[in-house]
Amino acid sequence: MVSRVIPVEVFDLVIFGATGDLARRKILPGLYRRFLAGQMTAESRIIGAARTDLDTAGFRKLVQDAIEEFVSADRRDPAMIAAFLEHLDYVSIDASKGEAGWTSLNGLMRAGVVRAFYFSVAPSLFGELAEKLHAHGIADGQSRIVVEKPFGRDLATARALNATLASHFEESQIYRIDHYLGKETVQNLMAVRFANILFEPLWNSQFIDHVQITVAETVGVEGRGSYYDKSGAMRDMVQNHLMQLLCLIAMEPPYHFDPNAVRDEKLKVIRALQPVPHDDIVRGQYNPTKTAPGYLEDSENPDSRTESYIALKVHVANWRWKNTPFYLRTGKKLRARASEIAITFKEPPHSIFDDAEGWRENVLVIRLQPNEGMNLTVMIKEPGPGGMRLMQVPLDMSFAEALGEEAADIPDAYERLIMDVIRGNQTLFMRGDELEAAWAWTDPIIQGWEARGDKPKGYDPGSSGPEDALMLMHRDGRRWREIKE
Ligand code: BG6
Repeated sequence: MVSRVIPVEVFDLVIFGATGDLARRKILPGLYRRFLAGQMTAESRIIGAARTDLDTAGFRKLVQDAIEEFVSADRRDPAMIAAFLEHLDYVSIDASKGEAGWTSLNGLMRAGVVRAFYFSVAPSLFGELAEKLHAHGIADGQSRIVVEKPFGRDLATARALNATLASHFEESQIYRIDHYLGKETVQNLMAVRFANILFEPLWNSQFIDHVQITVAETVGVEGRGSYYDKSGAMRDMVQNHLMQLLCLIAMEPPYHFDPNAVRDEKLKVIRALQPVPHDDIVRGQYNPTKTAPGYLEDSENPDSRTESYIALKVHVANWRWKNTPFYLRTGKKLRARASEIAITFKEPPHSIFDDAEGWRENVLVIRLQPNEGMNLTVMIKEPGPGGMRLMQVPLDMSFAEALGEEAADIPDAYERLIMDVIRGNQTLFMRGDELEAAWAWTDPIIQGWEARGDKPKGYDPGSSGPEDALMLMHRDGRRWREIKE
C-alpha cells in the first residue's frame, strides 16, 4: 500500500508559546515530520513567538534540539532537518506587556497565504493575544486560531473564554484541540461504525449489554503536580478525552462526514448524558511505595482531595442507549498503559447448547493505544471429539500487521490536527457549544463530591485502581476487563 500524502496550502503558522513544553515535544517535531512527509509545502513558514529573548538562529537551535529529542532516529535526516529549519523565524513577544514585537511579527506575515495562530499559552493570555492580533491588523476574517485544553475549569470559565474568543473570531475560525480526536484509531471508530453494515444494526441497547471505556496510564503526575492538583482526572481526562470517545460510540450517524454534521451528533449525545449519582462514582489517589512518592507528595499538597483515578457509570438517555450503561475509567500509575473501548454484546436469546459454562459474550474491543487494533471475540466449537463444547476465540486485527509499513507512517495526533487547521477542516475539533455542554454535565458531578467533602480512596501504583471501582461493576453483575498492554 502506498500512503497518499496530499500537500496542504502554503501557510504562515505563528506559534505563541513556541519555547514551551508542548511546542517542543509535540508541535514542532510534528511539523518537522509533516515536512519530511512532503505535506508541508516549501513556501510555508513557521514563526515562533514567545517571551524568551531569542533570535531566529537561537530558535532554530532550540527546534533542532527538540527534533533530536522527540523525533525517532530513523526520521532524523540531517539534510531534511537543515531544510526544515530554514522555514523558521522567531519574534520575541510578551503578550502581557506592551507593543514590542508585534510590528516585527506583522512584517513577517505574507499576503495570500493561510494564516494560523497557535495559542500554546495559558488561557489567561488568549484575550490579550486575540486583541493584539486584531489591533495590529495581523489577523483577519480568514485567519485561524488554535487553542488547547484546559479550556476552562467549569462552565462559567469556559463560557468566558468562548466569549473572549468570539469577540475577535468567528466560530469557523476557532480550532479547539482535543488531541484524542487526532488519534488514528479514534477516527477509525467512525469508519468502523459508519463504513460497515455489520455493526450498526446491533449498535443499540437491544443488543449491547454495556460499554467500557478505559484510558489507563502508568505515569504519575510528577512534574505537573501543581496544574494537575487544580484539575484531577475528571477535568483532565473525562470531561474531554473520554467524553469524546463516548460520543463517537454513542452518536447517531451524521448525514455526512462534515464538521458541523459530526459535531451536531456529538452534541446531542452530550446533552443526553444523565446526571451521575454519587454511588456511581469512584475516585482514587495513588499511594506512596517504599521507593516512590504517592499522589499527595507529587502534588505537593498533603491535604489534596484531587483524584488521580476516576471510574463512573454513565447513562445516555435516548432511544438507542436506554438501559445500556457506559462504564468509564481513567487513572495515573495503573498497571499498564492501555486505552481501549470494549463493547459487550448481550447473550443470545436462547441457547440450543447445553454447555452453559463454556459460553461467553461477544466483545468488540477497539484498542486505541498501544498496539492499535480491533478484536472481536466469537464462540466456536471446541475442537475434538468431546461433544458440542463451546470455546471463545478472538478475531484479532492488529493495525500494525494489517497495514504493514504504512502503519509506521501514521501521523501522530498533533501532526494530523495541525494539518487539518491549515486545510480548514474543523471535524476533529470541539465546537464551542459542545464544550459548554460537556462542562454543564461535568460541573454538578464535581460540585457533588466537593459539597460532600469526599476523599478519594487510596490505590497502589501498578494496580487496576481502588477496590471500590471493582464493586461498581460487580454489583451490576459485570466485571472490568483486565488492564494490560
Ligand atoms: C492530556 C492530559 O490531555 O492527556 C494528561 O492532560 C494525560 O494528564 C494525556 O497524560 C494522555 O494523553 P495520551 O495521548 O498519552 O494518551
